[in-house]
Amino acid sequence: MDGRICLVTGGTGGIGLVTARELARLGADVVVVGRDRALGEAVSADLAGLGGGAVTFIRADLSSQSEIRSLAATLGDRFGRLDVLVNNAGAMFGKRTLSADGIEMTFALNHLAYVLLSVTVLPLLRAAGRARIVNVASEAHRGIALPFDNLQGVRGYGGWPAYKRSKLANLMFTYELARRLDDGAITVNALHPGFVATEIGARNKLVPNLLWRLASLAAIRPDEGARTSIYLASSPEVAAAHGQYFIKCAPAESSPQSLDRAAAERLWTISEELCGIPGAVTHQHS
Ligand SMILES: NC(=O)c1ccc[n+]([C@@H]2O[C@H](COP(=O)([O-])OP(=O)(O)OC[C@H]3O[C@@H](n4cnc5c(N)ncnc54)[C@H](OP(=O)(O)O)[C@@H]3O)[C@@H](O)[C@H]2O)c1
Repeated sequence: MDGRICLVTGGTGGIGLVTARELARLGADVVVVGRDRALGEAVSADLAGLGGGAVTFIRADLSSQSEIRSLAATLGDRFGRLDVLVNNAGAMFGKRTLSADGIEMTFALNHLAYVLLSVTVLPLLRAAGRARIVNVASEAHRGIALPFDNLQGVRGYGGWPAYKRSKLANLMFTYELARRLDDGAITVNALHPGFVATEIGARNKLVPNLLWRLASLAAIRPDEGARTSIYLASSPEVAAAHGQYFIKCAPAESSPQSLDRAAAERLWTISEELCGIPGAVTHQHS
């Protein structure tokens, strides 16, 4: 990965931290994004020197569209290109809360941030010649369809159903973006990391802290949970993989609902509107 510039959102904790660390160890120049400047700077200092590449922290709250736009502008100014984007930052919210843009937080952070960041850094990914987008989704996407009349949980919000919807949206976004970026220059794939012992369930009051700690006893460690993210971001084996879902570094089938093309197009249009990027990515064929 020498000379490759890799951005990992949520690279300050959990699965993202291990992903950033291992990409740094492989020699990449790594950009870590999170909200906590002190933590982010400590993480970059820890990772710097692991593989000879530079490690940079950029602070951004990805639930805010203006902060995503500033992040993309900063990346453009500082680096001019991006080889790998790992959309990893995500959260669960026990109570319905709104983002700075007035959008339900789970939908804003877990889904719309993936969309807006990918679209705003697209010129940088194109500038790299060959680039990869890796979207961290989840097996939690199964067993539901997107309720288009209630995407933001205005009626009957539940933190777990909202999370499941957001992870289904990750897959639908991955497949739709892959259809639109079909000229071979940029690959887009998604993955499930496994049930991983991180802080995700302990934050934002989705379940009582003790319950999450108990459940986490059955979970895998972040080192193992990050494997498929690292694989998709760096392995030559998947240089041509596009529009696919991976579990344990192998292609997997996602739910029938995630493969619903009409629903994915509908979600795309709604997402474009909510992010203020109409017509941002039209179909491109080789
Ligand atoms: N853990 C699991 O079992 C599991 C299973 C399936 C899928 N996943 C997926 O894996 C991804 C990572 O989850 P994790 O378990 O590693 O979570 P985590 O331990 O809670 O880490 C989340 C990371 O995202 C950052 N983050 C949170 N909110 C943010 C915001 N508004 N803006 C910018 N950064 C933000 C956090 O840093 P700051 O708080 O400092 O900003 C942290 O670095 C998520 O997409 C999740 O859905 C996890």
